[in-house]
Amino acid sequence: MPIAVIENPSPTSPEILQAANILRRGGLVAFPTETVYGLGANALNAAAVEKIFATKGRPDWNPLIVHVASAAAAKQLVAHWDERAERLAAAFWPGPLTMVLAKSPEVPDLVTAGLPTVAIRVPSHPVALALLEAAQLPLAAPSANRSTEISPTRAEHVLKSLGGRVDLILDGGETQVGIESTVVDLSDITARLLRPGVISMTQLRAVMPFEAARERREGETMKSPGQMDRHYAPRAFVRLFDRTEMAEVKKEIAAAQHVGERCALLALDRIDLGASYFIQMPAHPDKYAQQLYRALHDLDDAGCDLAFIERPPAAAEWDAVHDRLRRAAH
Ligand code: TXA
Ligand code: MG
Repeated sequence: MPIAVIENPSPTSPEILQAANILRRGGLVAFPTETVYGLGANALNAAAVEKIFATKGRPDWNPLIVHVASAAAAKQLVAHWDERAERLAAAFWPGPLTMVLAKSPEVPDLVTAGLPTVAIRVPSHPVALALLEAAQLPLAAPSANRSTEISPTRAEHVLKSLGGRVDLILDGGETQVGIESTVVDLSDITARLLRPGVISMTQLRAVMPFEAARERREGETMKSPGQMDRHYAPRAFVRLFDRTEMAEVKKEIAAAQHVGERCALLALDRIDLGASYFIQMPAHPDKYAQQLYRALHDLDDAGCDLAFIERPPAAAEWDAVHDRLRRAAH
């Protein structure tokens, strides 16, 4: 499958124009955003959007995020654009914030999984912006990986997960944020955080009052259906541990390796617990987020069966990382 390396992204560069043509004809293009690589299709073409679900093996009840070039373009896709959306867009767009708003009838039900709301964001990656500009289309784009697998932070990860099933991959290098966007719900009078990301609750609350996601009651439909427990998971079995458990972890690693299982250790310091594969993770939450999925891809590629991952500190700035680790370990 063709991979085009994009060095100087512009809406008129040949690879971007080629990608825009593929999208206009209803094809699939994987492209970098600042968070993770997305698998894009024309959001207004239900047949093209259907290909996203088929290619990812994504359940049809899990709605997609629509990417647009500007807040003005976002307004075209929603029923109500209120002052809260205006303020959040001014504060965080282009950037890793997704807003859920009442949808306009123009947005196909397939995109929103039948929900009356649509999730929208303006990405900040220059390749994504050049592509949106060239295509002049809203792009539905989930992360460019098979459903439940780890999101891609490099073009090679897309290739590994989706193989020849995409018409074109735009390679814009390693992504800078590394985990998926913060998702907020503005479809109700109470603004809520649905998925934590590098734009934190503290930053959101500096703009307006925000509540945590509502706990789901028995039998109730999920407010953010993509928040399944198992997600972002490597092939390896993940065991999270605290510093206080080091002695036990050392024994577990020894026992597993004794029966021929390959163990990876991800820790915040250079500690030796006898694992055959070791990655030291950054002690800063944003840097940790940037490297997390790459580390999970790498330990899978190294053939590890078990991954022992040290839990970062239990502080609010680590919320998004804790969320992804919890899902990886489920
Ligand atoms: O950073 C990102 O957001 C990346 C890049 C490619 O932009 N995209 C991404 O897409 O992570 P995906 O499909 O992997 O995650 C979309 C999330 C899911 O949790 C989904 O349930 C939620 O957004 N979502 C989409 N539409 C929604 C809606 N109408 N209401 C509530 N949640 C919604
Ligand atoms: Mg995803």
